Amino acid sequence: MATINLLVNGRVIAAESGSSVAAAMLSSGITTFRTSVSGEPRAPLCGMGICFECRVTIEGQDHARSCQITVQDGMVITT
Ligand code: FES
Repeated sequence: MATINLLVNGRVIAAESGSSVAAAMLSSGITTFRTSVSGEPRAPLCGMGICFECRVTIEGQDHARSCQITVQDGMVITT
């Protein structure tokens, strides 16, 4: 598989093409995807689009479920 680059919170990370955004972020050591209303760190739980714990901003789209979106080269992501 080819390796592509993503920009996560201003940091370039490498990802395998065809992987989900969540998998790419976790593989790069990113474990906080968002914070709860009480400020607790949250991260992917189900990996299949049910729990909504993996939400991030992708290309300006808020609350995108990162486990359901395939990486694309140059994708800009904010936790
Ligand atoms: S990890 Fe549960 S919706 Fe993405």
